[in-house]
Amino acid sequence: MEFRRINGLPPYVFATINDLKADARQAGRDVIDLGFGNPDLPSPDVAVEKLAEAARNPRNHRYSASRGIPKIRQAIADRYLRRFEVELDPETEVVTTIGAKEGLSHLMWVLIGPGDTALVPSPSYPIHIYAPLFAGADVRHVRLDAPGAANGASPGAAFFDNLIEAWESAWPKPRVVVLSFPHNPTTECVDLAWMTRLVEFAREHGVVLVHDFAYADIAFDGYTPPSILQVPGAKEVAVELYTMTKSFSMAGWRVGFLVGNAEIVQALTTLKSYLDYGTFQPIQIAAIVAMNEAPDFPKTINDTYQGRRDALVGGLNRIGWEITPPRGTMFVWAPIPEPYREMGSLEFSKYLIQEADIATSPGLGFGPGGDGHVRFALIENEKRIGQGIRSLRRALTRLR
Ligand SMILES: Cc1ncc(COP(=O)(O)O)c(C=O)c1O
Repeated sequence: MEFRRINGLPPYVFATINDLKADARQAGRDVIDLGFGNPDLPSPDVAVEKLAEAARNPRNHRYSASRGIPKIRQAIADRYLRRFEVELDPETEVVTTIGAKEGLSHLMWVLIGPGDTALVPSPSYPIHIYAPLFAGADVRHVRLDAPGAANGASPGAAFFDNLIEAWESAWPKPRVVVLSFPHNPTTECVDLAWMTRLVEFAREHGVVLVHDFAYADIAFDGYTPPSILQVPGAKEVAVELYTMTKSFSMAGWRVGFLVGNAEIVQALTTLKSYLDYGTFQPIQIAAIVAMNEAPDFPKTINDTYQGRRDALVGGLNRIGWEITPPRGTMFVWAPIPEPYREMGSLEFSKYLIQEADIATSPGLGFGPGGDGHVRFALIENEKRIGQGIRSLRRALTRLR
């Protein structure tokens, strides 16, 4: 049968690793899973309790509002004000989404279609590439190197130049730029000055900036990721996706937001009113409580991720696998060590499962630009990470 949007999709490389992981576990091996970025830390207690209470109220069993109930839009506006000093009008500049992923996917339907082009970093979180494609648009890949690769240049500098060059050489002119900092999978981070330059460029050329801010609250060593909306005038050209998934460890709850430019937010609100009835209301109520009553929850989980990052990067460096510590995200983006590089990321990831009982994500899964790397997700505790380092030391004999 012909499924036009599906047939052209490349094989899902993460599935290969998942299958190997399942086989190894079936065979009784203790696989340390640093593959999928699925947070292992529990969601805030107040959210869980509120969910249970709200679920008992039959009034909450009916269809909810597809754009999100007023109080959740107010709660995210309050959070943006407290956290980023960004003012949002909850009526016009906020819409609730079923996680950032759904929000981004449908956002592309309203922004672009056949004949349009989007600029997307390479490598990228897969939906950043596929959402514009599903919308029928073309994608131009813009090289984004791992931090430290730019030889001491300021963060994001090389990517900025690549982006401008890609825009200038493209025809028709790209209408949308997809961004996401701190960046999955490369962990690259940028500062407000970087965002400001890009907003200036976008305003001058009439380009829409879509910033997926999934790692808004996951940053280390005193670094605070900027919201693109902190740039004066950003609302003319930019929208941002914020999600409860990583900040509040609420991955399965599926609560995210699109905020910023009112016209774009309203366009997505309209499309979504045709598509869905919104997230189950008790979940929205619980998300409100999480944001209002556990505003510092992200800081506590951030400390946990930082400890895991230090355990993993420190351990890898000790066994001779040199990595620059990431300043943000819950990942470590590791160049495949020289003696193994020619295997490519898929074969190397398979090797790590088979020889070291460690699951990673092959860089190839983030597009061809990722093939020289594997990604570790910080979703096991420090003790397990230490155990993983010991098995890596045994398996990667050619590092010594
Ligand atoms: C860059 C990025 N965006 C979005 C998501 C998913 O967010 P959500 O759970 O809100 O759909 C992830 C999850 O790994 C991510 O890395």
